[in-house]
Amino acid sequence: MKEGEGAAKLTRRDFLKMGGAVTGGAAVLGVGGLAVGPAAEAVAEGTTEVELLYTCPIDGKRFTSYEAIQEHFKTNHPDDAIPEVMTLNLNGGESVVQIESHWTLQEALQFALGLTGAKTMCDRGGCGSCTVLIEGEPALACTTLTIECEGKAIETVEGIAADEKWKPLMDGFAKNDGSQCGYCSPGQVVMAKYIIEKYENPTDDQINQEMAGNICRCGTYPRHPKAIHDAISAMQGGA
Ligand code: FES
Ligand code: FES
Repeated sequence: MKEGEGAAKLTRRDFLKMGGAVTGGAAVLGVGGLAVGPAAEAVAEGTTEVELLYTCPIDGKRFTSYEAIQEHFKTNHPDDAIPEVMTLNLNGGESVVQIESHWTLQEALQFALGLTGAKTMCDRGGCGSCTVLIEGEPALACTTLTIECEGKAIETVEGIAADEKWKPLMDGFAKNDGSQCGYCSPGQVVMAKYIIEKYENPTDDQINQEMAGNICRCGTYPRHPKAIHDAISAMQGGA
């Protein structure tokens, strides 16, 4: 079978985003990269064979079942902790991730799922660049343990950007140059979404207060209220 045959719904881009690979025509998804969307669709439609791989973080060996990697640890790394496998409720879907129990949510998003929107800047809860929403409330992914997140709805900037409803917010940031180097921008956008949902028509003071924990080294602060006001106006049917 040629590469791509029988996997019409699972594009190369989907694979790369999910950390997967095509081998011998079968879809092989590394745990840490199983986004339920396209993979589940492919399975449901019987268009491809999907096999989960669990990767040993010590020697890189891959296994097709959690039991197999557990056995591998018992035999080869008896003094090391066996990786955890858990399901995250992420951006409206479910993602199976293989993590180490001490990993922060930021590490799980970045290293297990390849979601690089939430940025690590200070890595100590001081800058807001890693802001995500957990159960609708802003949270710092760098100071949140992944295992604390089981069963909770997590929303990242990738989920917001993919939702057509929030296009006016992206447009508002772009139109008002709300982003310069862009490093802080994902966190700013997540906070902006939170503000728009919390206040019907926020004042500049309310916006600035809510965003006070989101540090921007490029000094884009005056542009955030403008971006948010423009987004609200567009979402309410204005220009
Ligand atoms: S990287 Fe998380 S608050 Fe700075
Ligand atoms: S746009 Fe550069 S840090 Fe904010």
